[in-house]
Amino acid sequence: MPEEKTFYITTPIYYPSNKLHVGNSYTTVAADALARFKRLTGYRVWFLTGTDEHGQKIQRQAEAAGKEPRVFVDEIVAWIKELWEELDIDYDDFIRTTEERHKEKVARIFEQFYEQGDIYKGKYEGWYCTPDEAYWTERQLVDGKCPDCGREVELISEEAYFFRMSKYAQRLIDHIEANPDFIQPPSRKNEMINNFLKPGLEDLCVSRTSFDWGIPVPFDPDHVIYVWLDALSNYITALGFGEEGSLYETFWPADVQLIGKDILRFHTIYWPIFLMALGQPLPKVVFGHGWLMLQEGKMSKSRGNAVDPRVLADRYTSDALRYYLLREIPFGQDGIFSLENFIVRINTDLANDLGNLVSRTLTMAERYFDGILPEPSETGHETDRDLRSLALETPAALEEYIEQLKLSDALAELWKLVRRSNKYIDENTPWDLAKDPAKKDRLGTVIYNLIESIRFIGVMLQPFMPRTPGSIWSQLGISENPDLRSWASLEQWGSVKPGTKVSREEDLFPRLNLQAEIREMQVDKTVDNGDAPAGEQEEQETLISLDQFQQVDLRVAEVVSAERIPRADKLLKVEVDLGNSDRRQVVAGIAEHYQPEELVGRRVLFVSNLKPVKLRGVLSQGMLLAATTEDGRLALTTVDRDIPSGSRVS
Ligand code: MSP
Repeated sequence: MPEEKTFYITTPIYYPSNKLHVGNSYTTVAADALARFKRLTGYRVWFLTGTDEHGQKIQRQAEAAGKEPRVFVDEIVAWIKELWEELDIDYDDFIRTTEERHKEKVARIFEQFYEQGDIYKGKYEGWYCTPDEAYWTERQLVDGKCPDCGREVELISEEAYFFRMSKYAQRLIDHIEANPDFIQPPSRKNEMINNFLKPGLEDLCVSRTSFDWGIPVPFDPDHVIYVWLDALSNYITALGFGEEGSLYETFWPADVQLIGKDILRFHTIYWPIFLMALGQPLPKVVFGHGWLMLQEGKMSKSRGNAVDPRVLADRYTSDALRYYLLREIPFGQDGIFSLENFIVRINTDLANDLGNLVSRTLTMAERYFDGILPEPSETGHETDRDLRSLALETPAALEEYIEQLKLSDALAELWKLVRRSNKYIDENTPWDLAKDPAKKDRLGTVIYNLIESIRFIGVMLQPFMPRTPGSIWSQLGISENPDLRSWASLEQWGSVKPGTKVSREEDLFPRLNLQAEIREMQVDKTVDNGDAPAGEQEEQETLISLDQFQQVDLRVAEVVSAERIPRADKLLKVEVDLGNSDRRQVVAGIAEHYQPEELVGRRVLFVSNLKPVKLRGVLSQGMLLAATTEDGRLALTTVDRDIPSGSRVS
């Protein structure tokens, strides 16, 4: 029997100190997509998430709320679980550090460390950052503040237990160097070695006496165990570490531990050292992803509804939110969350590309074949071969990207097939084929290929957007046929049966009005802020700052050539020169207003930092500016004296 492939993935366990924002949801959505992908491709998966419930920070917040810590965390944990349900997070286990199964094992781990001489008793005098639950020496502070988060630190002086970190430092350096994949992305590895390991590790204080919301040290109950030692252990206690026949034996070491870059030090220094002291193997990969920021800076839990993931999921669907989070930011880098970009992604990738592909295809299948899937014929047609070979290559490309945790690239790859399928419609113009009864066979083949391509797309979408494929299966009439949703079914083309009844049921993603969405979500935000009357706030929010305006890179561009685009009455393909050998091609909707010849040599205003797009299959790398009237007249904007191409407009 072939050996079972296993995959163990974890997220950080969240502090239930407040409701989570869209930035926190990011890690969990990514972990869920990876877990689902591995399940789909035949792995036995264990996906763990949970909550980190002890420590001084939680105790203080509970006190401030006038609640017992346990009651306080119970309420937030319930909210977090609802959030995960709403975002379709399909975890296998949810660990709470206040559970007996965890506490009892952490106490034993502490005891083992003490017995083997890794922990000793001493006195701690130094600084503590309560929001981060982190110790700092005087030397490490920056302007007297926490070097990680910049907040106030407190001087503490108490009897405490210490862990001999220094004993393991060299072994850890050797491990990191011998295992280049251990800390990812690679840039983070050097940061850990140079900033923390090379200067020499100090022993870590691992108990506190000045509060009691934690796991007591079993042999000295005036002390509670340091919250990071407690929290990090969750990754193994949840698997039943130390118990015979437990999941630990099947799944440890973890394949991927996903974390945000701010908690890398805890996961790539303390955690591996604790594991070494336990004589256990280290995780294969610890991946520190970037931060999701707001345009105006760091995301904070009090910034209002626009970043509340439940508000976003309710309004735009959790699939759209998942798609945006996974597609927009290359996994590992920092990224900006903006409602505007979110809506644009929904309108372009989801409504225009995917939604239209499905609705156009099904409308045609109904119109030309009464919704009965026709029999394809083998024609050797070039576009058929092209579509089929791309569809058959895409699953392996996705697997490769997922192996490297490149979620955004994986989705971009899948969208190549979505766009190729739309192009296939434009190339084959089924509406023309339908006019000629002699071309009925060809028309049937085109519709069949499109349906099969949509099925391929649906199968590959499942890990990223768990709900949308359900609607695709129903419209393709294959809800009752799970074989057609399996990864193995993508090994060959043509599995969907001719004669299947397909039907157009719903638009997957209706287009949204960008301005209206921005307005409405901002009104919502004022409810939370409560510091400006709604009308006033709304008006202020629609004005832009100089900074925002300056993000648009406007240039003077000289038209070098212009030509019509076949079968596109309104479009011209225009080449412009921006000086310094920078030439760009743009697709401009001006063919009804200008003859191509009359444009050559003109100097026009040009937006040079727009994301490139393809219009009718032609690449467009910017935009010509034009003024338009309500009744449809149009005039290009030009400069009123001679000025070199490439000059900046501001
Ligand atoms: N409880 C610790 C983790 C213990 S793991 C053994 C903790 N909790 S947290 O709730 O503060 O943060 C959890 C995760 O959310 C971290 O990985 C952190 O990087 C991530 N994020 C918090 N804000 C974020 C963004 N704005 N963007 C992306 N991730 C963010 O730390």
